[in-house]
Formats: sequence, C-alpha cells, structure tokens
Amino acid sequence: MNKLEIKNPATNKVIEKLNFTEENDINSKIDNAYKTFLSWRETDAHTRASILKEWSYLINEHREELAKIITLEGGKPLKESRGEIDYARSYIDWYAEEAKRLYGRTIPSNTENKRIITQKSPVGVVGAITPWNFPAAMITRKIAPALAAGCTIICKPAVATPLTTIKLIELAHKAGVPQNAVDYIIASGKDAGRIFTEHRKIAKLTFTGSTPIGKKLIKQSADTVKNITMELGGLAPVIVHKDADIDFAVEQTIAAKFRNAGQTCVCANRIYVHKEIEELFIEKLIAKVNKLNVGNGENSDVDIGPLIDQEGVNKVIDQIKDAQNHGGILSSDLNSLQYLGGNFLKPVVISNVNNDMKVMNEETFGPIAPVMSYTKLDDVIKLANDTEFGLAAYYFTNNYQTGLYLYENLDYGVIGWNDGLPSGAHVPFGGLKESGYGREGGKEGIEPYLETKYLSVGI
Ligand code: SIN
Repeated sequence: MNKLEIKNPATNKVIEKLNFTEENDINSKIDNAYKTFLSWRETDAHTRASILKEWSYLINEHREELAKIITLEGGKPLKESRGEIDYARSYIDWYAEEAKRLYGRTIPSNTENKRIITQKSPVGVVGAITPWNFPAAMITRKIAPALAAGCTIICKPAVATPLTTIKLIELAHKAGVPQNAVDYIIASGKDAGRIFTEHRKIAKLTFTGSTPIGKKLIKQSADTVKNITMELGGLAPVIVHKDADIDFAVEQTIAAKFRNAGQTCVCANRIYVHKEIEELFIEKLIAKVNKLNVGNGENSDVDIGPLIDQEGVNKVIDQIKDAQNHGGILSSDLNSLQYLGGNFLKPVVISNVNNDMKVMNEETFGPIAPVMSYTKLDDVIKLANDTEFGLAAYYFTNNYQTGLYLYENLDYGVIGWNDGLPSGAHVPFGGLKESGYGREGGKEGIEPYLETKYLSVGI
C-alpha cells in the first residue's frame, strides 16, 4: 500500500512512514464518533473539564518530546516548538474552564401561560483540517472547544506534520477522553475535504489553511449545509508611524515577521514606514535581521529554521526576484541568502519597495521583510485595506488619536497596536473578508461548536 513519508525539512530525510487511512475506515471512524457523541454530550461539563485539564497536564509532562516532534517534522526552532506546546496547552486550559460556562437564558414570555428557556447544545461530530505551520496549537484550538462543548472530533492533520497530532491524541486518550471522542485520519486534504463535507454525520467542518482551499470546502459544504469555521490566508500590513518608538517597532516587527521563519497566516507581509523615519527604521531593522541565526532547529541557538519544503522556498525566491526586477534593494544578495542550501533561506530586508511588487500582493510564507514608505496616514490605510484579505494588521504609534483612528479604519479581525504578537487562547482570533469567518479562542471560540435550542412551555 502507498505510504505517507514524513520528512525532516532541515535534512530532507524521511523520519517516518505512515499508512493512509482507507475510506471505509474513515467512514467507520465517523460512525463511531457519532455513537460516542451521544454519550459524550451527556457527560457533565465538570467531568469534561477535568479530563481536559488532565490532558493539558500530560502534554506538559511530555513537553520536550512533543517539542522535538514539531521541530523534526516541521523544522521550527526548538525554542519556538516549546513555546508552541505551551500555546497549544493554553487552549485546553481555557476551554476546560469555558466548558462550565455554557449558559442558556430564561426569556420573559409575552403571555402569562408560557415559560421560555434556551440551552446551548453541542453541534455533533466535527471534522477538523489543520495546517503544518502550528501542528500542535492549531489542533488543540479546535479539539479543546469541541470536546468542552460536548462534540466529538476527527482531525486531519497536514500530511507534512501528522506526528504531533498522533502524539497529542494518544495523550488525550490517556487523559480519559473516550477513544472515539477524538480521533485522527491520515489522508490528503482533497480526500478528507470530500469525505468530511459529504458525510451527513459530520455536523461541522473547521479548517485552517489557504483561502483557495477554504473556498472549495465552503462550496463542497453547501449540499449538506455544514456549520463551518474558516481560518484562511492573510497579507498582514505593518504601519510604523512617524511618532512610533522606532526600536520597539523594529523589535515587534521582527517578532511579527520572522516567527516560524515567516510561515504564519498572521505574519507581517507588507511593512509601511513613514517617510520621515524610513531610513532609520530600515538601518535598525537590517542590523537586527542580520543577527538572526539560521540553521537546523534542533540546535538551541537557531532563530530561523528551514522552510517547510522546496516549493515554499521557490515561492519566496520568486517574490525576491520580482522585487529586485522592479527596483527593490536587498539587504544581502540572493546567493548569500541560500548559502545553507536545501530548504534554508536567510532572512532579508527589501527596501525601495512599491505596491506593484508580488511581495506586497501575495502571501509570502517566508523570511522577507519588504519596506515601503508613505507620507499620509489615509493613503497608507487605503493601501493596507486594498486586499481581499483581512486577518491581521499591526501598527506602531504613540499618539492615541492616530492609534484609535487606525483601529477604527483598518478592515482586519486581529489588530496589534504597539503589539507584534496579539494571539492568545483568551482572545477571538479570525479574519474578515476572504480571510474567513468564525472565531477561535476566547469565549467566541466555543460558540461555533454550539447550537442554541429554545423551549417554549405552555403552563
Ligand atoms: C496562524 O498561522 O494563523 C496562527 C498564528 C497564531 O495563532 O498566532
């Protein structure tokens, strides 16, 4: 049988081979998840919360092992992988508490002889499709609210990084989550998308990934009217205004840009800097970027690991060449960016950028920081909003009027004002426009796993 080969992106060596899950087995898993749903939804919220807490505890006990798995299959530097495990656990801890707060309402009746109540009920079996860039956090941010709500869930991890999911789910079962309340399949995105969207026992589909795939899944979901959550692509702008603290803006821009080698949906894609501070900002940015250490993420001093694969590298190089051809100036020449070969790419700052370049219009998913200048705030807001994406945006200003004006006028779901890392389990994460819909995290993040049922009692 055809096997899935999982490769270490730092060495391109195969680290594991897995069997694909046969379609019949996927269907049985869905049937079993449905049967288990009927009992899991009856398990009281406090018990569900305790099991989730135990899962979080076990993940912490296996923190180092899990972090190494993330680094081996995803290339992420070990220190970031450890951070991802903590981030992943924070969703479980958060939703263990939220499980106990799924309140209904009592509604005053419009007649004397009726009483009206509402209740929050779990939607049913969830199909989850997750990406390779956060193989732990993107999965717990779906599993935790689903289980807390009383749903059961089947996960389809990215084919590049399934090992983290397998270990996390093994620990969930060890913690007491019933075997079929959370399960995984090994399948291509295409097959899983088709099976999940067609199957009538899957009530909800939750997807994190690219906008083109998200659009296909939305179309495919129409026939079975799935409840769907879509966390799709981004093209995050960073605006550094003339009154910003430049050193702080540089430090936070680096955090927003180079996390996971620039491979996140919320990564700073386009950097707009006010003309008056452009030169100083670029000088300071280049000085810091040159200090970032590129290499195999298993080494403790590495800041930037490999990109996920050669296709990812080629896309980034294409954007760099396009920028060069249109007058962009690189902080290091293209050959020196590729000095380590393979999937490694040194981070680079591109100055003298204009808005026609690919790097300002296409999601990069790589370590390039393109900087373009502006003079008028309204012009830069217009540029920032001139995209079909609306996931994350960042800006730096110490003037509260400018800050509020930007907040009110930027069409983005996640906004960081003097903050390059606004994500967290306690906040609603999600995009506007073609960046998707539904929120993950915060009290909003459990809502997509719940239906409101209403009862009218005649007395
Ligand atoms: C993503 O890549 O969309 C996830 C980033 C985050 O949770 O901060």
